[in-house]
Amino acid sequence: MAKPAERSPSVTVTTSWNEQARADRADAWQTIGNRDVDWDEFDSEAYFDHNYGMLRPDDRQIIGIITSFFDDYRRRFPDTWLRTAIDVGAGANLYPALAMLPFTSEITLFERAASNCSWLHQQLRTPHESWWQFWSEMARDRDAYGQITDPLDLLSRRAFVDKGNLFRLEPGRYDMGTMFFVAESITTRDEEFQRAVGKFVGSLRRHAPFAAAFMKDSSGYCVGNVEFPACSVDENDIKKALAGVARDVTITTVESNDLREGYGGMIVATGRKKV
Ligand SMILES: C[S@@+](CC[C@H](N)C(=O)[O-])C[C@H]1O[C@@H](n2cnc3c(N)ncnc32)[C@H](O)[C@@H]1O
Repeated sequence: MAKPAERSPSVTVTTSWNEQARADRADAWQTIGNRDVDWDEFDSEAYFDHNYGMLRPDDRQIIGIITSFFDDYRRRFPDTWLRTAIDVGAGANLYPALAMLPFTSEITLFERAASNCSWLHQQLRTPHESWWQFWSEMARDRDAYGQITDPLDLLSRRAFVDKGNLFRLEPGRYDMGTMFFVAESITTRDEEFQRAVGKFVGSLRRHAPFAAAFMKDSSGYCVGNVEFPACSVDENDIKKALAGVARDVTITTVESNDLREGYGGMIVATGRKKV
């Protein structure tokens, strides 16, 4: 997520964006677009260690929100067949996919960075122990999750990695979806943030349920020693980005303040694709 490693003053920080963008440094934070960044510099293991090496209170709260949402959806629409799911910009995080696991038979882990794609392949084969902490939180008091005895084995059989660019996602294809800490954490440009949200929801079928998470007021983040851009968004920006494409939207602010400097918490949005 734009949930980066903290910067130490003694560590040299480099940027992930290209020379041309670097040359425009005076205006850099205004002008770093998704295409300017070398996403293959994303250090998956450093990101995982910092964010998901253990279950944190903010993620615990997010898990409560999204698993209740998907579970309620299943109860309200028991006859809707959710065959295909997508997690957009999966990065080094398996928990959004785990949250969809009881409801779908095929999960696409969609990701642009080659480093993260390799990491995801490897994790599906030999997952880190800490994912059990996330799963235990999901399975607590929720039958749909509790009935699955070996979620990581099941995930390895239901999920596959697809390397691609979210701005070219095929419209109307998936029955449910997640996108965690992506739209606001891949660009400084508000227009790209809005388009990324639109492409994610657009990749879903009519009325499909989704959950998305965002860093609030993020000013960029480091993974290992490499700096990545972010677009500062709040609840109103997310509402605006979803207004034309989603219905039944619920937006929840999640308190979080100790991952790093330069952000103001997390925001979760759940809803359904509009048409
Ligand atoms: C801040 S990380 C979030 C990772 C993960 N979803 C999480 O919850 O922690 C942003 C992710 O978006 C990916 N990404 C950046 N641009 C992308 C694009 N155009 N299409 C798909 N993924 C992209 C990055 O490689 C990275 O894995």
